[in-house]
This record gives sequence, structure tokens and C-alpha cells, in this order.
Amino acid sequence: MKITQKIGEAKFSKFLAAGAVTGVVALCFAFTPAELKGGQKWMSPPTDKNLCYSFLTADDKWTAPAEAAKVKNPVASNDASIAEGKKMYVKICNDCHGKKGKGDGPKSSELDKPPGDFTKPDFAKQTDGELFWKITNGKKPMPSLKKELTEEQRWQVINYIRTLGK
Ligand code: HEC
Repeated sequence: MKITQKIGEAKFSKFLAAGAVTGVVALCFAFTPAELKGGQKWMSPPTDKNLCYSFLTADDKWTAPAEAAKVKNPVASNDASIAEGKKMYVKICNDCHGKKGKGDGPKSSELDKPPGDFTKPDFAKQTDGELFWKITNGKKPMPSLKKELTEEQRWQVINYIRTLGK
């Protein structure tokens, strides 16, 4: 009697485990927006565009610390600083981020991760301080530009990329 009970328990826990796995997969599929499933086969590898990916890798959106967000841009956004920023942008950022900042530069298709789209409202919501922190620190494959650009140049490039969404 005891033995059969044990077998019963083992079967039941396997059943539970299988149920849990199926549940998670079904949930992540269900919560992935339909347009992202288009062209994607069931059980195809998760991409950074679906929720399974962020769930499995815990690789959430790149966010700057709250402290960094409060830092103010000391460089006024005017024709001169925007023009300086553009020079830097064309030289360094264009390859990945694209001429218009849409993330479609010539090198973008070789990257593990798509560069953001600077023309989206979500991007515009970020403060200059947040952008400064990201440009300074980088996050692979986005390079850290701490050495390549002076602080002033980083603020100028921010003034320039702000104009791309307009
Ligand atoms: C080698 C390719 C590459 C180059 C060169 C590059 N970036 Fe990026 N950048 C990326 C990628 C990829 C991301 C997305 C990183 C992520 O989200 O993890 C990114 C993200 C960013 C972000 C954050 C976007 C967001 O939505 O929060 C900013 C700002 C940025 N880059 C600015 C720049 C600037 C300014 C330059 C030039 C001075 C530059 N990048 C050069 C690849 C690049």
C-alpha cells in the first residue's frame, strides 16, 4: 500500500511540474503582442522583441540610475552646440544609430541588439541626464564614450539627437 502511494506521489509531482512549465510558456506566448508573433513559429527561439526573452534573460530595458536622471545639461541647445553635436554624431554614432537616429545604421544589422530609435516618444521622455549617463557608460554593444568624447561633447551630441525626433 505504502509503495503504491509513493508512486502516486511521484507521478503527481511530475504532473505538477509539467503543468507549471506549460503554463509559463503559454503565458509568455499569450502576453507577447500579436504583431511580434507574425512570422514567428511556435517555440522559435525567443528574441529581444518578445516577453519570453525578457522573462528568461531578466534583460529588461536599459535604465539610468535616478541620480543620473536629475543631472542638468549645462550646454544650451542652440545652433552652435547642435552643429558641434552633429559632427560627433556623424563620426561616431551614425554607423549604428543611422543618419536619422532610427537605429538603422549600416552596422546595425551586425549587432546583437538593436540600437534604440531616437525618434520615438519613449526616447524623448528620458532626461538629458539619463542620456548622458548612457553615453558615458555604454552597455554592450553600445560603447562607453567616456574617453572618446569630452563631457561637453557628450552634452552637445545629446542636443543634436534631440532634434532627430522633431
Ligand atoms: C557599435 C554600435 C554603436 C555605436 C557606435 C553607438 N551606439 Fe548608442 N547604442 C547602441 C546599441 C546597440 C544601443 C542599445 C543598447 C541597449 O539597449 O542595451 C545603444 C543605445 C544608445 C542610447 C540609449 C537609447 C535609449 O533608448 O535609451 C543612447 C542615448 C545612445 N546609444 C547614444 C549614442 C551616441 C550619442 C553615440 C555616438 C557618440 C552612440 N550611441 C554610438 C549601439 C551603438
